[in-house]
Amino acid sequence: MKVLGIESSCDDTGIAIFDTNAGLLAHRLASQTIHKKYGGVVPELAARDHIRTVLPLIENVLEDAGLNGDELDGIAFTQGPGLAGALLVGASLGQSLSFGWNIPSIGVHHMEGHLLAPMLEENAPEFPFVALLVSGGHSQLVDVAGPGQYKILGTTLDDAVGEAFDKAAKLLDLGYPGGPAIAQRAKTGTPDRFTFPRPMTNRPGLDFSFSGLKTYTLTTAEKCRSEDGTIDDQTVDDIAHAFQEAATHTLMIKSIRALKSAGRKRLVIAGGVGANRRLRELLAEQCNAAGFDLFYPRIEFCTDNGAMIAYAGALRLAAGEFLEGHRFDVRPRWSLEELIAIQ
Ligand code: KG4
Ligand code: ZN
Repeated sequence: MKVLGIESSCDDTGIAIFDTNAGLLAHRLASQTIHKKYGGVVPELAARDHIRTVLPLIENVLEDAGLNGDELDGIAFTQGPGLAGALLVGASLGQSLSFGWNIPSIGVHHMEGHLLAPMLEENAPEFPFVALLVSGGHSQLVDVAGPGQYKILGTTLDDAVGEAFDKAAKLLDLGYPGGPAIAQRAKTGTPDRFTFPRPMTNRPGLDFSFSGLKTYTLTTAEKCRSEDGTIDDQTVDDIAHAFQEAATHTLMIKSIRALKSAGRKRLVIAGGVGANRRLRELLAEQCNAAGFDLFYPRIEFCTDNGAMIAYAGALRLAAGEFLEGHRFDVRPRWSLEELIAIQ
């Protein structure tokens, strides 16, 4: 079964074709750059950019795969969670193509896409496992008993960790998106010049809180400003380093705790912050020491992409699920726990 995946939940248009027999046939991504000057994603601009990009990208991907549209067997689009206007672009086009080509369609949960992305790799995890889902909008620890069987073990009480990276980067004038910028500057940071707190790690439980780290970044930066209001480059590197250490240690401590409390042996990292090399390194070290196996998607499938949506949609379509009729409602807020098991 060949399934076209359409991702348009935020500021990336991702298109891919996944074949349940032959694997991933083609994938392309268009990342919007227009938001950089606003320091964050502007929803209306994101939706308009998806409209401009999505059809040409689908044509390119079909060409890459050597297929005509009428050779596809299904369409998967991101139905939520995400920005309503941006989601509507993928949903309306996905439903139109499904109607035009007379093939079934399915609305995919964006976080299920992230969570299943490691399945696209050669070293794919077996079920069950614990997933650390860390993106711009989510920080969750999820117990995954099987495909579609998700129980949220812990979540953020305020900012998502990717959002905290983005806000800290903004405070340091490092631009948007902040995660890669902080990671880059942290490389040349002096270890131990600043130590930031590891929020909520001293008490039991699996929830996160990241807004305090942002405040800590702000107050540290303010103390280091010279009279003309600037901060020297080395200090910016040092603050970025301290921020990254605190954020990644916090995620690592809670992930190991979640594995132990759920009685699982495998950990999956997914979502944009999963691209962070320091996080991968720390988790690899600690999983190794405690006898857990660690899995993650390749870097380009950590951040938003069409391949994960094509894959998750193909699993559900192949199991006989599809959307009735051709109405297109989107679900900007949607919990993973509402999904049904994939048979
Ligand atoms: O999954 P994603 O592409 O989009 C959402 O679903 O939100 O995640 C984007 C988030 C942004 O907050 C970005 O700053 C963060 O992932 N990110 C990183 C890195 N690359 C992207 N955070 C830390 N380190 C990175 N290398
Ligand atoms: Zn995402």
